[in-house]
Amino acid sequence: QELQLNLEQIEKGGYEHFMLKEIYEQPDAVTDTYRGRMLVEQSLIRMAGVDDNLERFLNADRIIIVACGTSWHAGLVAEYIFEDIARIPVEVEYASEFRYRNPIIGSKDVVIAISQSGETADTMAAIKLAKEKGAFVFGVCNVVGSSISRETHAGAYTHAGPEIGVASTKAFTTQITVLSLIALKLAKAKGAISNSDFQYHLEELDLIPEKIKQALASNEHIKKVAHKYMNAANFLYLGRGFNFPVALEGALKLKEISYIHAEGYPAAEMKHGPIALIDEKMPVVVIATKKGHYEKVVSNIQEIKSRKGKIIAVVTEGDQDVRSMADYVIEVPDTVEALTPLLTTIPLQLLSYHIAVMLGKNVDQPRNLAKSVTVE
Ligand code: G6P
Repeated sequence: QELQLNLEQIEKGGYEHFMLKEIYEQPDAVTDTYRGRMLVEQSLIRMAGVDDNLERFLNADRIIIVACGTSWHAGLVAEYIFEDIARIPVEVEYASEFRYRNPIIGSKDVVIAISQSGETADTMAAIKLAKEKGAFVFGVCNVVGSSISRETHAGAYTHAGPEIGVASTKAFTTQITVLSLIALKLAKAKGAISNSDFQYHLEELDLIPEKIKQALASNEHIKKVAHKYMNAANFLYLGRGFNFPVALEGALKLKEISYIHAEGYPAAEMKHGPIALIDEKMPVVVIATKKGHYEKVVSNIQEIKSRKGKIIAVVTEGDQDVRSMADYVIEVPDTVEALTPLLTTIPLQLLSYHIAVMLGKNVDQPRNLAKSVTVE
């Protein structure tokens, strides 16, 4: 018993929980994901699974992404990245829905299955169905040699290292990293991106690990925010564009480990329902980085404010406009828009972690949840 406890302490490497350790591992995990694949000086992305099947990708009518849970959110981020950078149409499906609705798939479709564990039953069944219908199936898994990595035609591992905490953290950011590499690679091969823009994206991706470290440095500040709102009954998370899926993921993290009801929404949809919930007791986490839809998000913040909602805003370093309106701001460094999810996710992970710890919940093994769901 004692030996067991000591072993666990060693595995946690000085952190109180696996989840916190895994949050802090993200700078290294992202580096491990692109190491050897992204050659910045040569302006090149090398990925065997994609290189060997380049024609299949380039001739694809569309890409269908299938996944569950947090991996599905990474798929949604990838949809924005693939369509914006590589100009390939993408559909993102819950594996459980895809497998049961007689989907229309053909031999010119590429299916990307995303799974941390590589063992999720619904994702596995979706892959088998897509293969039966003649699609080319590509896996993005973390666990090497897992069932999904063996069942797919080709794939790319995330190389995040073991993820023990049930709530997925570093798997998510490394999935986005792999999918960004694929999107950039295909964009280059298709001529959908200029050489200079391609190079710029590589350089920006190369800076992400250092910027994640900077985002992690807000930990003590985030703890204060957590303390302020830990007793809220509900949370709303809003984001737009590339950061809409991050809002969904932020809400999922909070639900999973703190058991506080939380919903993620595209910011503009707020007026079609969730705005009815806003009162002085409602914390609203808004991702408002200085990119694409910044002005629109600012007006969403004003709408929340006029209904007395409490605003926790994730902003780009140095932002002044949102600061003057929000109850709390959490800064992340600036980067190219497509890569902002890799940074905006970090404070949301820390916020849910601290709230769950303050509420005395079992952060690494939340009730009713399993790390991998191998049954339907
Ligand atoms: C479970 C886990 C989630 C995970 C989901 C999909 O619900 O608790 O953290 O996102 O399964 O798992 P996968 O291993 O396929 O990514």
